[in-house]
Amino acid sequence: MMPHWEDAGFQQIVCPHFDVAGFAGRQVEGFLDVAHFAWIHTETFADPENQAVPPYNPVETSYGFSVDYWSSVSNYSADSDRQAPEGFQWLRHFEMHLPFTATLTIHFPQQEKLVIMNAASPVSARKTRLFAPIARNFDLHIPVAEVHAFNHRVFEEDRLMVETQRPERLPLDLTLEAHIPADRSSIAYRRGLKKQGFGDFFLV
Ligand SMILES: [Fe+2]
Repeated sequence: MMPHWEDAGFQQIVCPHFDVAGFAGRQVEGFLDVAHFAWIHTETFADPENQAVPPYNPVETSYGFSVDYWSSVSNYSADSDRQAPEGFQWLRHFEMHLPFTATLTIHFPQQEKLVIMNAASPVSARKTRLFAPIARNFDLHIPVAEVHAFNHRVFEEDRLMVETQRPERLPLDLTLEAHIPADRSSIAYRRGLKKQGFGDFFLV
């Protein structure tokens, strides 16, 4: 389920678990969302000026769905002096294993790959414990503590978003919230949850 975890040349990093005061579905939806980088992750990797969301299409699979998302949004840390070549298109490949585990493989220049698993474990209807193993085949000399620290900052940016979203549950009736093409992963996710029988399972 975790791409490249056991491949030669890849380092395995297990980030400390991370708690979010919100429903696991909301947390996962945030992880899948490709439209939020320029709004939420500006301190860590995203350029606030680059808000475009090119079209993409989730593809149904036996485990849920997968998405290939191509864009010019760099994934180099904002503190890094590395830059992608002019015109480089970044591929972010998502695999959504319903209901609450997703993986994201980010394709950097020069065949460098970073895989992040977002395993959201519901602690209660409104609490989630996030487990996030990481595999990568570059920057192997950088101490893992720095990787933990960077990802902690990214998770913090997402946490604030997830904890303030309303309604707290995910409206699985897709007519209830307005959707735009940038939300295709969100729609695919909600459809998938509904198909699995996650209806209005908590209302109080
Ligand atoms: Fe995020």
